[in-house]
Amino acid sequence: MISCILRAKTKFLIAFLFALTASFGVSTSGYAQGASLPVDDAGIVSAGESLYKNNCVVCHSVGSDVVVGPGLKGVNERRAQPWLVSWIKNSQALIQSGDKDAIAVYNQFNKQAMPSFAFSDDEVKAILTYIKSAEAAAAEAPAAGAVDAAPGKNVGTDAIGAIGGYLDIILVVLIIVLIVLVVTLLLISSLLKNYLNKNKELDEYDAEVVNQRFDFSKVYKSKAVRTLVVLIFVIVLLDLALGKVMGIGIQEGYAPTQPIAFSHKLHAGEHQIDCNYCHTTVYESKSASIPSANICMNCHSQIKTESPEIQKIYKALERNKPIEWVRIHNLPDLAYFNHSQHTQVGGIECQTCHGPIQEMEVVYQYSPLTMGWCIDCHRETPLNTEGNAYYDNLVKLHEESSKGAFTVTSNGGAECSKCHY
Ligand code: HEC
Ligand code: HEC
Ligand code: HEC
Ligand code: HEC
Ligand code: HEC
Ligand code: HEC
Repeated sequence: MISCILRAKTKFLIAFLFALTASFGVSTSGYAQGASLPVDDAGIVSAGESLYKNNCVVCHSVGSDVVVGPGLKGVNERRAQPWLVSWIKNSQALIQSGDKDAIAVYNQFNKQAMPSFAFSDDEVKAILTYIKSAEAAAAEAPAAGAVDAAPGKNVGTDAIGAIGGYLDIILVVLIIVLIVLVVTLLLISSLLKNYLNKNKELDEYDAEVVNQRFDFSKVYKSKAVRTLVVLIFVIVLLDLALGKVMGIGIQEGYAPTQPIAFSHKLHAGEHQIDCNYCHTTVYESKSASIPSANICMNCHSQIKTESPEIQKIYKALERNKPIEWVRIHNLPDLAYFNHSQHTQVGGIECQTCHGPIQEMEVVYQYSPLTMGWCIDCHRETPLNTEGNAYYDNLVKLHEESSKGAFTVTSNGGAECSKCHY
């Protein structure tokens, strides 16, 4: 009998749970479209990513920021998939067909026409899958990105900075303790004084001592007070000196404020603009060059024209004056360094010497740029002599006389005259 009731109850429970999930199914049907995208298929996601980066990134972000067009975060939930497919293939056709949503976004973005794309349905779906997976990734790891971007690579100065910070705290605590001590002592002494004065049996000498005026000169002369003052003075000096040391001679991590809040993280990172789009001579000549305002205008005659930071570019052009970027990397005149020798001939990545520039909001000096740093790399890096007849004899000679690899140093990369005029 009891088991029968139990079974009936279980059945009811199952039916109830089923109804519950079913009703959830209805209420979340808007999400079902997004969920049907194969976000777990790495192949499709990466195909979508490259299509997206080649075609869409200039005008869209996968977050909620407006670039030229709207941020695409949540677009899979906002719009039905067939709508997205026809929009991306030919937005103008969809607008002309009288679709209300299409006309609404078009008007909202001042009737800027989005270009048409001759993609297959699968290609569009791959892009949508990438957008979906990118927003999930962004939701998971914003904090990690923020830490990466911090220009605090220099452990040495950080440690000194931390000591400086502790000294400041110690000073403040010392001063607070002193004040509390003085106040309590004054309170106690006035209490005692009151108490003793009420005591009629005080003799004349005691009464005089109790009512004595406070004598400051005694405080100056006290040894304890003098030591304390000297101690505080020394700590203050030490604190100041540490602050100075941090600024002198340590160039690594140098990140001056620039006249325009230009971000490599945004341009070279998120928007994947090539380094040599702006640093035009980096593969051909000694210097990498800093872009002129005209290069910025290739995009910013259209993009973010209202931003006060972008207005600064227009002002520089109006006044016909270059933007005064603060130079970060700077070897002394006695040393010779050539970019094309390292990037074009040597095939070294910018990041090997400049660090993760594409993640820097503000550029900082990543490497020490000392003579030891240059020579260390020359000692360790094998020369790429493959297919270069010029090196054939040299390499042969080298192999006869030594066992190590044919490095930059083997070719004279440590001779003073190579780097010094
Ligand atoms: C030249 C700039 C440009 C490019 C490139 C571009 N778009 Fe757009 N996109 C826009 C603009 C502007 C809008 C807003 C509607 C309008 O004005 O036509 C838009 C709207 C959209 C919308 C509608 C968003 C919504 O909230 O309804 C989607 C989806 C979209 N774009 C996807 C893409 C995809 C995917 C690509 C790459 C294959 C792409 N766009 C490339 C400019 C661009
Ligand atoms: C859209 C243009 C643009 C792109 C793309 C770009 N940069 Fe820059 N870069 C600048 C500007 C402008 C400055 C000067 C302002 C500053 O320091 O932020 C600069 C400064 C630098 C500096 C510091 C120069 C100095 O003063 O010593 C380095 C190093 C650098 N870029 C490397 C790179 C690398 C590496 C890439 C590619 C990953 C890259 N840049 C991509 C525009 C660009
Ligand atoms: C190839 C295109 C391109 C070039 C070249 C370019 N930018 Fe940009 N820039 C962008 C895009 C895209 C954004 C992002 C706009 C957004 O977030 O809405 C942007 C954003 C900015 C912003 C942020 C504006 C704001 O208020 O959010 C600044 C500042 C900026 N760029 C400065 C520069 C400078 C200075 C140069 C020249 C050295 C330059 N850009 C060259 C494409 C470009
Ligand atoms: C082997 C190390 C190394 C590599 C690789 C390298 N740089 Fe540099 N870069 C330097 C040094 C050293 C300086 C300082 C040069 C000076 O002061 O004369 C510098 C300076 C710069 C500057 C400041 C302007 C100038 O020309 O002095 C820019 C911009 C720059 N580099 C961009 C790049 C870009 C972009 C790449 C990759 C295409 C790159 N660098 C690759 C070492 C390197
Ligand atoms: C990350 C490694 C690396 C660093 C750091 C580096 N170099 Fe080099 N350097 C190379 C390589 C590799 C070559 C050989 C390129 C080639 O010819 O194939 C080279 C070649 C040279 C040459 C030409 C040597 C010759 O035999 O003609 C000079 C000069 C030079 N570097 C100067 C410097 C200076 C100055 C610095 C420091 C400011 C420096 N390099 C930092 C890797 C580096
Ligand atoms: C691979 C490149 C390279 C070679 C080879 C090289 N130097 Fe240097 N040297 C530099 C660089 C870069 C600096 C600037 C370092 C700095 O500012 O800290 C420098 C700085 C110096 C300085 C000035 C130091 C100072 O504190 O201002 C002297 C002196 C010097 N080098 C002597 C030599 C002599 C002697 C040789 C040959 C045995 C030599 N260098 C070989 C790259 C080189």
